[in-house]
Amino acid sequence: MMTDRAGELSIVVLHGPNLNLLGLREPEIYGASTLAQIDAQLVELGNSLDTTVSSLQSNHEGMLVDAIHDARDRYDGIVINAGAYTHTSIAIRDAISAVQIPTVEVHLSNIYKREEFRHHSYLAAIVIGQISGFGTQSYQLGLQALIVHLRQLRAASGG
Ligand code: DQA
Repeated sequence: MMTDRAGELSIVVLHGPNLNLLGLREPEIYGASTLAQIDAQLVELGNSLDTTVSSLQSNHEGMLVDAIHDARDRYDGIVINAGAYTHTSIAIRDAISAVQIPTVEVHLSNIYKREEFRHHSYLAAIVIGQISGFGTQSYQLGLQALIVHLRQLRAASGG
């Protein structure tokens, strides 16, 4: 878990299975950045947008479900790259639906350009939106989009 100073908004970035191997894992698909580098960039981007960014990676489906439950009352939004669980996990989808926290789905690779089994996301229909195919920038774009969305929600509710 990585956290920086308190900002106006709090967002948690969840990384699913095998993303701990970024930098080593199929760099031609996923790029050369490590997860620690990605997380540090997101903290920095968050700081510039008055947002506290925390992050967590797990290779275990139940841990990700627990992290989504724990996000209730703690975070304003979630950015998630569920890795392969994107294509298999009804449990992660149900957890996001259950907590009702605005969530953005991100992928480093363009999942629609790859094997057919990656074309279906269980999360896509219940998140605000999905960003796929921009490498590490997918996370940054996802974070920025989520912050804009959360500010619009606040403005619409008068706060
Ligand atoms: C991924 C795409 C998934 O299909 C894959 O299983 C991953 C990473 C991406 O970021 O491109 O682990 O979510």
